[in-house]
Amino acid sequence: MEKWVVANWKMSGSKNLLDEYKKTFQNPKKLIVCPPSVYLNETTEFILGAQNIYHHPKGAYTGEISALMLNDIGIKYCIVGHSERRQYFEETNDMVLAKAEVCLKSSITPIICVGETFEQYQAGKTIEILSQQLRECLPNEGNFWVAYEPVWAIGTGCTPTTTEISTAHTFLREKLPEITLLYGGSVNESNAGAIFAIANVDGALVGGASLDIDKIHLIYQIAMTIKN
Ligand code: 13P
Repeated sequence: MEKWVVANWKMSGSKNLLDEYKKTFQNPKKLIVCPPSVYLNETTEFILGAQNIYHHPKGAYTGEISALMLNDIGIKYCIVGHSERRQYFEETNDMVLAKAEVCLKSSITPIICVGETFEQYQAGKTIEILSQQLRECLPNEGNFWVAYEPVWAIGTGCTPTTTEISTAHTFLREKLPEITLLYGGSVNESNAGAIFAIANVDGALVGGASLDIDKIHLIYQIAMTIKN
C-alpha cells in the first residue's frame, strides 16, 4: 500500500517553496505538508498540517495558536511533542498529552512524536522509553497518529538499522493496532525505499529533505510505489 509522506519544514521554507510544492504536487493522495503556521491559510491541493499547538483551548496566551483556530481554517493534522519542542521549549509528556487532547476536541488528528535519545539508545532502553511515552503522551481514545523519531537520528544523517526500526514499529503496532505509524529521522531519497518497505511503517516524517523540492518529490514517488 502507498505510504504517507509528512513534510515538516520546521522554521524553514518560504512562500516560494510553497509555490514549488503547489506546482509539483497535484492532488497527491498521501502528502501532508507542515510549514510554519504563517503559511497555513493557503489553498493547496495537498493537505496542510501544523507543527505545534498550544495546550489550552483558548485565552490570554499571547503569541500562541489554538486547535480551534486551526480547525477554523480547515487544518486537520498537527504534529505534537516533536523532540525539538521537548528540548527547546521544555515540553513535558503531560503537555504533549494535553496538546493531543485539544487537537482531538477540535477534530484535528495529532501526530504524536516519540523516540529515545542517543544515551537511551546506547543503553538499550528504546522500548522502555517508547513504552513510557505511550503511557504518558497518548489519549485513551481517538484518532491520533504516532511518529517514531529517535532524537539522535533527527538532522544527523544517522538512522537506526532497518531491523531496529522494525523492532520499534512492531512494538508500537502491538500496542496500537489501528494507528497510523510514521518513522522520522534523516529520511532521504536514498533510504526512503528501505524504510517504507519495513512492516508496520505507514509513512515517513521528513525534515531536511522536505526543503528540497526534488528530494521530497522523489521520496513521495517512492512512497507511492510501495506494495507491502
Ligand atoms: P530530518 O529529516 O531533518 O532528520 O528531521 C526529521 C524530523 O524531525 C521530522 O519531524
